[in-house]
Amino acid sequence: KKAPIRVAVTGAAGNIGYALLFRIASGQMFGPDQPVALNLIEIEPGMAALRGVAMELDDCAFPLVAEIVQTSDLSVGFKDVDWALLVGSVPRKQGMERADLLGINGKVFVGQGKAINDYAKSSVRVLVVGNPCNTNCLIAMKSAPNIPDEQFFAMTRLDENRAKTQLAHKAGVAVKEVSELCVWGNHSPSMYPDFENAKIGRSKVTDVILDQAWLRDTFVPTVGQRGKAIIDARGASSAASAANAVVDTVRDLSNPTRGDLHSVCVISNGEYGSPAGIITSLPIRVDGAGKWRVVEGVKLSDYAKEKIAASNQELLEEREVAFGQLGLSI
Ligand code: NAI
Repeated sequence: KKAPIRVAVTGAAGNIGYALLFRIASGQMFGPDQPVALNLIEIEPGMAALRGVAMELDDCAFPLVAEIVQTSDLSVGFKDVDWALLVGSVPRKQGMERADLLGINGKVFVGQGKAINDYAKSSVRVLVVGNPCNTNCLIAMKSAPNIPDEQFFAMTRLDENRAKTQLAHKAGVAVKEVSELCVWGNHSPSMYPDFENAKIGRSKVTDVILDQAWLRDTFVPTVGQRGKAIIDARGASSAASAANAVVDTVRDLSNPTRGDLHSVCVISNGEYGSPAGIITSLPIRVDGAGKWRVVEGVKLSDYAKEKIAASNQELLEEREVAFGQLGLSI
């Protein structure tokens, strides 16, 4: 009998949490034979709603769920976890500057990083979803010195999935035909979805979609602005698709990669000219031993290099503002 994988989810009573927990519990993240224990973490005002979500999880009678913990105490919530999915964060409110948001969330991620450092398994893997996710992830990583940097991730898979679908629609093919599409840089409108190295079937995207102007001037901004377009249409930010991307990311980090590559924000060691020491989105594959590596040999055009550099510049600026407010050093 397999031991359960213990997964902490912060912001568990929020919109993404509501779309995510049931998929983890049903086996879509770790497979149909793998029991899971769920550590659901909320802030005090979210605890009543969390109780309701936990009641619904109970009412699904999922055979894989070994235990459900509900807590606002990080020493309980992160105790012995294998995965920490950091979804909760404070949304930007009217009149709030970006710098304020970086500072407010920064404090939260210092606390969560420390608690992960002190209470989680040393093999814990951390995926940050709450925005600004790259910088929040970097702050959590810095606050958890005993956990290797390679175990920290932030999410750009939703952007990759969005980009693949846009290309599939334009080319009139099924989305599964689109592969090797890496989103580079910051999870923000400045991200760069690299259509020049992506494929449709066995062909280069640029040999199938010949309209360069569409690729540069419609596709790239459509992917970058998709989050806002969802908010405008739905009156609320992406939740089910974000949860789906969390499932995709964790599943793909947990299994050897077959064929395709994936976009994940990871610690940069200077690959492809990205500044070392930031959490930025890069193309990765997972090997047979379960270790991820940045894909080598991707050829970037001057146009792509410029886009990626601009997005990484934004990350350097976010780091400067957040670290300044938190008194962290690089
Ligand atoms: P939401 O506002 O519906 O839920 C957030 C939940 O987090 C609330 O229940 C709140 O009580 C809780 N929370 C706040 N601070 C917390 C803390 N310190 N500890 C534990 N829980 C805390 O928000 P939603 O829609 O679920 O989104 C969550 C985050 O995910 C947002 O920051 C959003 O911007 C981000 N996001 C990221 C995406 C990505 O691709 N990386 C895509 C979509 C959303």
